[in-house]
Amino acid sequence: MEIKLKSLKNRIIKELDEVKDAKFVADLKTKYLGRKGELATILKGLKDLTIEEKPRIGQLANEVKKELVVLFDRAEKLWHGQADEGVDFDPTLPGNRKDKGHLNPSTIVQYEIEDAFSKMGFTVYDGPQLESDYYNFTALNIPEDHPARDTQDTFWVEGKNLLRTHTSNLQIRMLEKHGAPFRGIFPGRVFRYEATDASHDHTFYQLEGLMIDKDINIGNLIATMKTLLSSVFQTDVDVRLRPGFFPFVEPGFEMDIKCLICDGDGCSVCKQSGWLELMPCGMVHPKVLEATGVDPKEYSGFAFGLGLTRMTMMKYRIDDIRLLQSGDLRFLNQF
Ligand code: DAH
Repeated sequence: MEIKLKSLKNRIIKELDEVKDAKFVADLKTKYLGRKGELATILKGLKDLTIEEKPRIGQLANEVKKELVVLFDRAEKLWHGQADEGVDFDPTLPGNRKDKGHLNPSTIVQYEIEDAFSKMGFTVYDGPQLESDYYNFTALNIPEDHPARDTQDTFWVEGKNLLRTHTSNLQIRMLEKHGAPFRGIFPGRVFRYEATDASHDHTFYQLEGLMIDKDINIGNLIATMKTLLSSVFQTDVDVRLRPGFFPFVEPGFEMDIKCLICDGDGCSVCKQSGWLELMPCGMVHPKVLEATGVDPKEYSGFAFGLGLTRMTMMKYRIDDIRLLQSGDLRFLNQF
C-alpha cells in the first residue's frame, strides 16, 4: 500500500506537468482525488491492514493526500492565470507606472481649432471617408470629365465610390441635412493616390469650414481666418491672399502662410518658395447651394479647406509629413 501511494503521487506529479488547460486539471482531479478516484480506492485498503501497520500507513496516506491537494490547488490557480508564486498581492503598494500615451500632434492642433471655432458658434461634424462620386465631386460643381478632377489623384473603389479626396464632401451632406443658416467645421481624414515625399502623403487630414447665412461676405471670411490663425500659432503670422480656382467657390482664394520652418528663405517643405498654401477658401458657389436646396438669392456664405496636417507641420516645425503617421515613438514622444 505504501508503494501504491508513492507511485500514485509520482504519476500525478508527472501528469500535472503535462497539463494544457484548466479542464485538463479538473479531469485529473476527479480521476485521482474524486470520491470514486484512485486515492479513495487505495485508502479503502486501510481497513485490511494489521494493527501495527495502520497508524504508520494511515499517516503516510494523510500526508500524500495533503500534498496532492496542494499540487492541484496550485495547478488550478496557474491555469486560471493566477499563478501563486508565494508573493502576496498588496493592494496598498503604489501601481506600476507605465508611460502614458498622448494625442498625435495633428489631433492636438485639431482640438485647438475646434475650440477656436466653437467660440465663434461653429459646430463640429464628422462624415464618411468612403464617399460617392456625387458628394466628392459632382455636387461640388465638379462634373465628370471636368479637369479639376485631375488635380486630386483619387483612390477609386467599386461602384463609382472612392476614398474622399477632401472634406468638402461634407459641405453638401451637411447643407442637405441641416439647411441654411449653417455654421460648422468638419475635421477628418482624406486620401490621395500620391507618390509620397516630404510634403505629400496618401493619407492626411483636412479641416473644412462652412458658414451660410444672410449677407455673408468676404470680410467675414477673412476675419474668421485671421481669428483662427492667431489662436493656433499664438503669434502673428505672415499671410497672403491670392486668387485660386476651385469649382465650388466663386470667387476663390488661396491663403498662404510664410513658411515657419525656413522663415521664408525656401526649404523642401515649401518647395523653395518661402510660402505654403495653407488655406484655400472662397465664397460658396451658387450651384453648390442649389444642389442642396438652399436658395442662393437668399443665402450666401464662405467655405475653407484647411490643410490640418500642413498646419500641424508648420506649428511644430515638422519637416517630413510621413513622420506624422509613422507611429515612430522617437518622433511621437516629443509632443
Ligand atoms: N477641397 C479642396 C482641396 O482639397 C480645398 C478647398 C478649397 C476647400 C476651397 C474649400 C474651399 O472649402 O473653399 O483641394
